[in-house]
Amino acid sequence: MKKIIVAIDGFSSCGKSTMAKSLAREAGYVYVDTGAMYRAVALFCLRKGWMTESNIDVEAVEKHISEISLSFKTSSEGKNEIWLNGENVESEIRTLAVSESASRISTLQAVRRELVRQQQLMGLQKGIVMDGRDIGTVVFPEAELKVFLTARPEVRARRRFDELTAKGEQVVFEDVLRSTLERDERDQNREESPLRQAADAQVIDNSELTPEEQQEVLRQMFAKAVLN
Ligand code: DC
Repeated sequence: MKKIIVAIDGFSSCGKSTMAKSLAREAGYVYVDTGAMYRAVALFCLRKGWMTESNIDVEAVEKHISEISLSFKTSSEGKNEIWLNGENVESEIRTLAVSESASRISTLQAVRRELVRQQQLMGLQKGIVMDGRDIGTVVFPEAELKVFLTARPEVRARRRFDELTAKGEQVVFEDVLRSTLERDERDQNREESPLRQAADAQVIDNSELTPEEQQEVLRQMFAKAVLN
């Protein structure tokens, strides 16, 4: 059967990665979480001190971006985890602080250029499900299946809040909602590759869908795209 590229874009905390992961598993495709790549770059910059709450040393980031080596490895439990310069940083990149920093670092042209280049290399063999913000518009404008996933901000903030508190982070719902809205705003309005729905993307709003219902919708879209 022919192998295709599946591009899944959408707002933060929509459940893109859960959806993309299960499709990849069912189809025997490679799954790439591009948000994890931006998060790992942000973590690297935070550790180097190139990024603070109020400032980014753009010159330093641009100068050293090629020193950041990212890869994905499967853990012994079968989880897809990101490695930064030989270190597993999967859990460290999932905090609220890194989420916010990733959103800011992803506005830099040099960062986007480098990560898009790496993502395009990953898709050369097709048979890939990639999720992010610009996959159907910039990384793979020729993708055979493009999905734009969305849900109401309150629904997304609630999911994110539940995830963070389950991990033991002390957060207030209103802060998570504010951070969700801020990230939406930045993702949609940055100059470089803003979050846009590709003209040929198919929309799934999962505010009122169960994970199973959502997966069934996606399964049908995939089956159709493979046959086309
Ligand atoms: O999907 P996520 O929340 O893990 O992404 C983290 C940040 O990275 C998010 O604020 C937007 C940014 N991002 C991006 O700009 N482009 C992508 N392809 C993926 C993520």
